[in-house]
Amino acid sequence: MNIVRVDSYEEMSKAGARYIIDKIKANPKMTLGLATGSTPKGTYQYIIEDHKQNGTSYQQISTFNLDEYIGLSAEDPNSYHFYMKDLLFNHIDIPLNHTHIPNGDTVDKEEECVRYEVKVKEASIDLQILGIGANGHIGFNEPGTSFHSKTHVVALAESTREANARFFPSIDDVPKHAITMGIASIMASKEILLLVSGDAKSEALERLLSDQLPSEDFPASILKTHPRVTIIADNEALMSTGITR
Ligand code: GLP
Repeated sequence: MNIVRVDSYEEMSKAGARYIIDKIKANPKMTLGLATGSTPKGTYQYIIEDHKQNGTSYQQISTFNLDEYIGLSAEDPNSYHFYMKDLLFNHIDIPLNHTHIPNGDTVDKEEECVRYEVKVKEASIDLQILGIGANGHIGFNEPGTSFHSKTHVVALAESTREANARFFPSIDDVPKHAITMGIASIMASKEILLLVSGDAKSEALERLLSDQLPSEDFPASILKTHPRVTIIADNEALMSTGITR
């Protein structure tokens, strides 16, 4: 895993956007895997800024998001459908029919998982953007998820619901389930860019960068076996790892 150390959230966001934009310029038809949460928000802002200033085009880009809550409609401000439109898609020139997010608002969830997995596989993701949960989750793959998992329905860990409660009126409003790309689906991406910021992530990052062998009780540890992973992490996140440059 290639580690890029930066000073701050701002610098992580700029470096993340630069990394993605350079890949898009090299391959304007690429398939991009997208993440949500607080971490990539700044990266998306810089992508929008670059699109407005330099005209980088997303007309031929396709995107696949990692996950979506079950039970929230696409119009719900807490859904990842809403997040992606609000924070990225509405501000660049990507055709909305090139963007893909699991549908968490459907009756047959299992059918939706199969449909999404087939689409992801057909598309073949060139670059997957990832964040990491404090418990090592990637997408919504919580500790204990099989490394062989494909797109599936998950029960969210209480710690994840608590961590994400900040976006909802109260913890009771945080959905208990989600649809997520599986760990095997994520690992099939040709390349992975992991963004990590803040001291809340420092223990997770320390564990990821330690000598411990990959283990299903820490989902992100599988990334050690992927041939092309770049981690852009800020000082606070790298605090307890002993990496000083
Ligand atoms: C969320 C998302 C993940 C994200 C992670 C970290 O719940 N499902 O895709 O990477 O947890 O979130 P944040 O960036 O807000 O810390």
